[in-house]
Amino acid sequence: MGTMSGPPGSTVAPELMVERATELSDDDLAALCEAADAAILDGGGFGWVNPPGRQALERYFRGVLLVPERELFLVRLNGTIVGSAQLVRPPRNNEAQAFSATLMHSFIAPYARGHGLATLLTKRVEEGARALGYYALNLDVRETQVVAISLYTSLGYTRWGVNPVYARVRGKTVGGYFYHKILRPEVEAAAPSDEAAPPECPDFE
Ligand SMILES: CC(C)(COP(=O)(O)OP(=O)(O)OC[C@H]1O[C@@H](n2cnc3c(N)ncnc32)[C@H](O)[C@@H]1OP(=O)(O)O)[C@@H](O)C(=O)NCCC(=O)NCCS
Repeated sequence: MGTMSGPPGSTVAPELMVERATELSDDDLAALCEAADAAILDGGGFGWVNPPGRQALERYFRGVLLVPERELFLVRLNGTIVGSAQLVRPPRNNEAQAFSATLMHSFIAPYARGHGLATLLTKRVEEGARALGYYALNLDVRETQVVAISLYTSLGYTRWGVNPVYARVRGKTVGGYFYHKILRPEVEAAAPSDEAAPPECPDFE
């Protein structure tokens, strides 16, 4: 697929859009798989090192829509899907980390890069996380994804950790960086008043 921003010299601004998906038409699924395939072949950091094949990708994205903790965000350039990301909520049993969500599997197809789509996508996922009440958003990225690293740094993400054995790509071990971003001011849990103080531990002596 060639560039999607119009003919050379065109002054028509490309139409950028991000939406949350609740279902996927056959055409949208095909475009999403094509975009993912191209990103994987480009070394895109989408988890896969080799494209798993069209049927596996279709099953994967249809499966994502069924996972209650995952929200799939779709990116369109001039109406065609060219990328996606997932907002992943913590599992219900993880009460201690219930205040943060994770941005995962963000990619833009190589033929649609440089239009500001990843910036728009990241901001929309942040808005989605904020709307769900999350305080922080986490993400991680291979140390080799230099464009993504500069993108997340410019959007205010703080690098808090490095895993030197983060991934293995074509037999080579690759490090990874971990980031977080605070999405809104913290609302501290109210300190329990004397009246509401929990009962003292019973005396078992
Ligand atoms: C990282 C990625 C999502 C960026 O997508 P994109 O839509 O091209 O990004 P944007 O157009 O929003 O540009 C983001 C920034 O990167 C810069 N940038 C884009 N392409 C670049 C390139 N090839 N070289 C250097 N900088 C580049 C842009 O100038 C912009 O910086 P600015 O805001 O200071 O102008 C895309 O390159 C990608 O999918 N890469 C592989 C997968 C990946 O790394 N995913 C993220 C981690 S899971």
